[in-house]
Amino acid sequence: MKACKPAILALAILASLPAFAQVRLAVDAGKPGAVIDKNVYGQFAEHLGTGIYGGIWVGPGSTIPNTRGWRNDVVGALKDLHVPLVRWPGGCFADEYHWRDGIGPRATRPVKVNTNWGGVPENNAVGTHEFFDLVELLGADAYVNGNLGTGTPQEMAEWVEYMTSEGESTLARLRARNGHAQPFKVAYFAIGNEAWGCGGNMKPDYYASLYNHYATFLKAPPHARPKLIASGGNGDDSSWTEVLSRDAARGTDGISFHYYTLPTGAWEKKGAAIGFPESEWFSTMAAALRIDEHIRRNVAILDKNDPQKTIGFYVDEWGTWYDVEPGTNPGFLFQRNTIRDAVVAALHFNIFHAHADRVRMTNIAQMVNVLQAMIVTDKDRMLLTPTYYAYKMYVPFQGATALPVTLSNNTTYASNGRGVPGISASAARGRDGKTYVALVNTDPAQATDVVLDVAGQAAHAVRGQVLTADAMDAHNTFARKDAVKPAPFSASAAGGRLTLRVPAKAVMVVAVEG
Ligand code: AHR
Repeated sequence: MKACKPAILALAILASLPAFAQVRLAVDAGKPGAVIDKNVYGQFAEHLGTGIYGGIWVGPGSTIPNTRGWRNDVVGALKDLHVPLVRWPGGCFADEYHWRDGIGPRATRPVKVNTNWGGVPENNAVGTHEFFDLVELLGADAYVNGNLGTGTPQEMAEWVEYMTSEGESTLARLRARNGHAQPFKVAYFAIGNEAWGCGGNMKPDYYASLYNHYATFLKAPPHARPKLIASGGNGDDSSWTEVLSRDAARGTDGISFHYYTLPTGAWEKKGAAIGFPESEWFSTMAAALRIDEHIRRNVAILDKNDPQKTIGFYVDEWGTWYDVEPGTNPGFLFQRNTIRDAVVAALHFNIFHAHADRVRMTNIAQMVNVLQAMIVTDKDRMLLTPTYYAYKMYVPFQGATALPVTLSNNTTYASNGRGVPGISASAARGRDGKTYVALVNTDPAQATDVVLDVAGQAAHAVRGQVLTADAMDAHNTFARKDAVKPAPFSASAAGGRLTLRVPAKAVMVVAVEG
């Protein structure tokens, strides 16, 4: 054999080796699955820290531009996310909230103490009418969380009547005197929150009885009846889903579930939001991906007790929860939001899509300034977080029809002897008829080539956006608001292969072009 020159040999070897691992993604556009309910992209706004007061509500007298008290900048940014649904007023706050405190002239509303969140005064400036004004401004549906913990069946029933009654009842007239003659549209109403914890430290059987008791008296005109939500379990505990789907199923539209991603898994020392080691990038990815096994376990119980699939599985609190930002009120749960959070959000979206037939609503915690927020404000300033951009990129998946995806030859992102899948994928037929593909790369250092194969339609190119950053904790600040933001992405087929290079630590959403 003739000897090759070393330089030529090296080039030949390089050309025969793929520069990046090659993963194959098969999408079957001919086998549409369940519709991805738009409410999978729901939000949560609690009376907690500056999540409402200052963050989105500034009051009509504020020098910050607002509409009837709601900040124009924040509302405008949220409208771009097509927020479908907002959950309010809590969280733990809900079980100490008495709705009559939040109606009538704001100047005369009682001032309470927010015992759950920082012990700060709660002046009730945002109440029922203000909340419905917000959801109307956003074009969103309302998810109202009732007070089971410290309220009575009468108080809860009267709130539902106040909001929904069309007649001449005293409560309907009171609502009209307070400025809203027409009933409010309550899309969802939950009976308590985290009954296993801040909502009353109950056992599932006891809560199931209370749920049935309270639900009996929640009356609304038949066409305006809110979907009722039973407050379920969290984390590894699926006993709530078991008991509630068996004993509280009558009239229940959904059972809620909470799951937070903690880098260390320990509530006492959760891990830092920025400046964290790669081991905590890895453990955050691994923890986020565990939502899949939690959904599977609970859905298996629902499939047994509710084979007709009348009960939805609503993950109405989820997201990252880090050690609170040093120097801020620990009760306000403010944390920085980085590219890691965007990747965590997109991993959740892909998993929620895979369970679209049961997971019909989710609510990230929380919308503004609290935990894994979309938006951070500081007085009159506002910035959009990487999580915001993940939500924006996934807008085409709202109401889309899930398509089956198969990943083969997937990479493994490994750390300290443990591994998670390198690529996560989802695909759907959007309401505009286009096929959308979402890809997430959990590896913070390695890009990956994904060869896309779409059955049932021509696929010669893709066009969309990619969100990535150089550092694992890259984030936006008021000094650098655009440090992390999506960039355009496109790829065309070459040699019969359509290859998408997904950068390290990235979220990508593309539309397939024929
Ligand atoms: O989202 C913050 C808190 O987390 C909520 O108030 C509570 O329901 C959960 O424990």
